[in-house]
Amino acid sequence: MRDEARFAFLDLAPGEESFRDGVLHGLSGSRKAIPCKFFYDERGSALFERICGLPEYYLTRTEIAILEENADEITAQMGAYSRIIEFGSGASHKARILLQALDRPIAYVAVDISREHLREAAAALAEDFPEVAIIAVCADYTSAFASPSLPGPTGKRVGFFPGSTIGNFEPETVLRFLANCAHILGPGGEMVIGVDLKKDSRILEAAYNDRAGVTALFNLNLFERINRELDGDLDLDFFEHFAFYSESKGRIEIYIRSLADQQATIAGRRFNFAAGELIHTEYSYKYSVAEFRELAAGAGFRPVDTWTDPRELFSIHYFRLR
Ligand code: AVI
Repeated sequence: MRDEARFAFLDLAPGEESFRDGVLHGLSGSRKAIPCKFFYDERGSALFERICGLPEYYLTRTEIAILEENADEITAQMGAYSRIIEFGSGASHKARILLQALDRPIAYVAVDISREHLREAAAALAEDFPEVAIIAVCADYTSAFASPSLPGPTGKRVGFFPGSTIGNFEPETVLRFLANCAHILGPGGEMVIGVDLKKDSRILEAAYNDRAGVTALFNLNLFERINRELDGDLDLDFFEHFAFYSESKGRIEIYIRSLADQQATIAGRRFNFAAGELIHTEYSYKYSVAEFRELAAGAGFRPVDTWTDPRELFSIHYFRLR
């Protein structure tokens, strides 16, 4: 074993919208909202890891089971010498399933905004897959970023976006994101995307209202983060987690609900919250296979294949650019 695994690290992180600006702007409008990207500070990321293992949160284990069950078929589509680009790679757990099954993959590009986690994950991959060029790109994958040049003239360029993170985008943002992926992948590029499926609302609502209350902690951590980082005095005893499935919109809607008429100071500014007022924190869209195919077609992606689990809880789509 080598002392230090070798991999390339590219820091393209733009001047991100700061947490302070995002919160002050989001709480100043008539409908208060905080962007869900701010969930993932260190505590939020650890809570999300716990959510992924909850009995009610079927998404992660179902997607992994589909990947494992169909790894040969999925990687056969990718062919030999492929170059994989994962958007929002996190710990790269799911990419490992593909890398293990792939025929002589040339490169794996991990794109993530979380600099230190990315560095650690890339170092571990470089150790475990010494024959694959591991390129870590610290960037906000939701906005356009310069595509790194990839080794090897042959082999497909395949984007990988698992976890149904695409469900956290509004449909028009999905189109913008996929158009950006198309630009990065270039003509003939392909995409593997994990998408949570529409289903009985009781299963969906249980996944976002777990009995152990971890999703509530994850959601309310946004307010704790405001208190920690922005000198806030939000009283967590007077706010609660609120999540439900909207059949008409096809999405889980997540809010923090104020339990009283109250005021709070954040970064030196006063904010009023009315009893019952909802502060929006996240949408999680659910799609049928046909709906998602139609959406992706708007960005030039043609369906090649789709895999689901026997209960049809989750889907993995394979697309090719027209
Ligand atoms: C990251 N994303 C796919 C999760 C979801 O299911 O929408 C985030 C999450 N929010 C609450 N629980 C999980």
